[in-house]
Amino acid sequence: MSAWGVRLSPLARMRVLAACWVVILSGMLWIGLGWGLDPEDFANPLRVWRHRLLVLHGIAAYMLLWVTGCLFTLHQQGNWRARRNRASGVVLSGALLLLAFSGLTLYYPPHEDWRRAFSLLHQVTGFTLAMLVPLHVWLGRRSRQKRQTATQAG
Ligand code: HEM
Ligand code: HEM
Repeated sequence: MSAWGVRLSPLARMRVLAACWVVILSGMLWIGLGWGLDPEDFANPLRVWRHRLLVLHGIAAYMLLWVTGCLFTLHQQGNWRARRNRASGVVLSGALLLLAFSGLTLYYPPHEDWRRAFSLLHQVTGFTLAMLVPLHVWLGRRSRQKRQTATQAG
């Protein structure tokens, strides 16, 4: 059975969750550090740390897209066909797509005036991801337990 199958191996699961949380936490910390910063104070060392966080965020985001690609064939398509955890899986996949799209517009804004709006969309979807990931895992586990109970009863 593949490590990236309909059910993930412990190592694959750890990679997926680690990539998700590094991306989520680096994004949230970047926002948090911004609250205490004076936009005029360029000497504040927190600025450097904020920049480093964004670099970490960009690298982790690449890794997250890579692991999501690993999940596509067996985990996403396989579970979709088996009708398992469909609703939360589709919403989670949609949120990741929206994050990838809005992240790209931050690098290459179609128009400079739209950058703020895309940044806001990206941040709101980012906060949603922090809720969707644990929800998806919890619902997946619950549905497996239900299937196991039904098999044992039958
Ligand atoms: C159409 C899309 C998707 C469907 C139908 C789906 C379905 C499922 C199902 C059925 C489970 C429970 C597996 C089991 O333990 O038997 C599960 C768990 C999980 N899914 Fe998805 N999923 C989808 C997309 C994703 C995406 C995009 C991610 C990446 C962030 C993801 C990450 C996970 C993780 C980390 C678990 C927990 C694995 C475990 O506890 O063993 N899923 N998913
Ligand atoms: C698939 C997931 C994600 C991808 C591909 C992604 C990608 C990106 C990219 C490419 C940037 C631009 C970096 C730069 O300007 O140097 C960015 C910025 C940012 N991301 Fe993400 N990101 C993802 C998830 C998240 C999450 C979960 C959060 C959590 C809140 C988040 C928060 C932020 C913030 C606050 C910024 C800075 C916004 C700005 O410059 O206006 N991102 N992201």
